Formats: sequence, structure tokens, C-alpha cells
Amino acid sequence: MSERRFAGTVALITGGSSGIGRATALSFAREGAKVVIASRGAEQGEAVRHELEALGAEAEFIPTDVSQSSQVELLMGRTIARFGRLDYAFNNAAAIDIGVFKPSADFSEEEFDKHIASNLKSVWLCMKHEISQMLHQGGGGAIVNTSSVNGLGGVPQNALYAASKAGVLGLTKSAAQEYAKQGIRINALVAGGFDTPMLNGVFARVSPEDPRAAKTGFAQLVPLGRIGRPEEAADAVLWLCSSASSYVTGHSLIVDGGMTAPFR
Ligand SMILES: NC(=O)c1ccc[n+]([C@@H]2O[C@H](COP(=O)([O-])OP(=O)(O)OC[C@H]3O[C@@H](n4cnc5c(N)ncnc54)[C@H](OP(=O)(O)O)[C@@H]3O)[C@@H](O)[C@H]2O)c1
Repeated sequence: MSERRFAGTVALITGGSSGIGRATALSFAREGAKVVIASRGAEQGEAVRHELEALGAEAEFIPTDVSQSSQVELLMGRTIARFGRLDYAFNNAAAIDIGVFKPSADFSEEEFDKHIASNLKSVWLCMKHEISQMLHQGGGGAIVNTSSVNGLGGVPQNALYAASKAGVLGLTKSAAQEYAKQGIRINALVAGGFDTPMLNGVFARVSPEDPRAAKTGFAQLVPLGRIGRPEEAADAVLWLCSSASSYVTGHSLIVDGGMTAPFR
């Protein structure tokens, strides 16, 4: 029987219907949390809600496009209506397939706006409502935002994704200082390569003739010699939310199998 570090608490996970978000939602559920997941696709969201309930958790799927202010407001309202409070938030939803892959000068203004809304503004919108709720209810809380190793440096052919993920670190570190005294810890997961539909989609795009070879090649670049399992990202997120990290805020926790070790 696993440790139930989050018994009776409420956790919100955006992008909870797939990949890293789904794994994190399941981990929170196993450890006793009531879990809200948010994403756009209802079928996948409902399927994960069933998985959460099968673990014995109280769970809700709230269809949400996190790039839309009114939908994020509704998400928060429905979360509080169902569970009454919010202890943990994992702002993790993002997409990588908006206008990629091309050189910086070839992006349209519309693609820029769409990408930033999906991957950066969304995190700010979610934090805005989550922080307000945590301040209102008192007692602090913990927020984790998903960045990427691509946000630590530039990425040829993918500047907007890199810019959005660098921006997530700026939001995280600023807000962490602002709300530390009220007991709200805010940190970032800086993800390397994890075996999810998003990363597999990238391999299919960059190497349509042989995505498996691209995947193998990528794994060989990682000192640990493999791509991460989504559960390994979830472990880091739960640690950042747990009391074991009570003195950690404004941190960017790199979980990448050592991939960026030569450069940092
Ligand atoms: N996998 C990696 O190697 C890797 C590396 C670095 C960083 N990351 C980051 O890790 C996070 C999770 O990625 P993943 O690999 O787990 O991807 P994934 O399996 O594709 O999951 C992405 C999730 O985000 C949701 N989503 C996307 N856009 C959304 C929007 N506008 N509103 C609400 N939900 C939205 C998706 O559901 P819907 O499409 O149905 O909305 C899905 O639930 C992302 O922030 C990604 O940038 C991943």
C-alpha cells in the first residue's frame, strides 16, 4: 500500500488527460487526493476520470481550453463548487504543434499569438485564479508549472515553444517570491524527453519515414540512455507539492535523465 501523502486534499491538473498530466493525476489519486483534470478533448478526459475513480479517488473532468480566460474562470468555479478548496495545482497543459517547425522569421503573427496563449498566457491565467483561491481560503498551497529543457536555451525551428517555456520560468520565479510569505510555494518542472503522445508526435513530424529511429537516436543523447516515463515526471511534481519540499520555492527542477548536464 502506497503512502497517502495527499489524503483529503484537492489537486487540479491541466492537461490531465494525457502523458505527464495523466500520470500526475493518477499519482495524486493513489496518494489520497481529490483530483480535477482539465483539457479540451472530452472523450480522453472522461476516460482518465474513470481511471481515477477506479483508484478510489473522487475525481472530476472539466472540459477547458486553458488559453481562454472565461474557460479558466469556469474551471476554477467548478473546482471549488465540487470540492470546496484547492491545495495543489499543476499547470501543465500545452501544445507543441501550433505552426511548428520553421525558422523564427517564418512564423505568422497569428501563430505567435496562438502559441503564447496556449503555452504561456494559459499558465498565468491558471495561476491568477489558483493564487486568488489559495489566498482566499488561507493556509497556503503549492503550484507547479511545466516548463521544458527547451525553455532553458534556444531551439532551432521551434522558437515560439522555447519562448513560451522560458516565459513559464519567469512567471514561476516572480510569483514564487510574491506569495512565499502567504505559504504558497510555486515551482517549475523542467521536463526533458518523456514518452508521451506529444514527444512521439514530434518524432513522427521530424522523421516521418522512421519515427522509431528518431526516438532511439534521441534516447542515445540522454546520459541515462533512455526517454523518461511520465510517472518519473509525476514523482517530481508530487515531491514539489509535498511537505518534503517545504523549503523549496521558485525552483526549476530539471528532470531530464542528465540531458542538459553538459551545459548547466
Ligand atoms: N513529453 C515531453 O518530452 C515533454 C518535454 C518537455 C516539456 N513537456 C511539457 O509537458 C507538458 C505535458 O506534455 P505531454 O508530453 O504530457 O503532452 P501530451 O501527452 O500531448 O498532453 C498534453 C495535454 O495538454 C492538453 N492540452 C493541450 N492544449 C490545451 C489547451 N489549450 N487547453 C487545455 N488542455 C490542453 C491535452 O489535451 P487536449 O488536447 O484534449 O486539450 C493533453 O491533456 C506540456 O507542457 C509539455 O510542453 C513535455
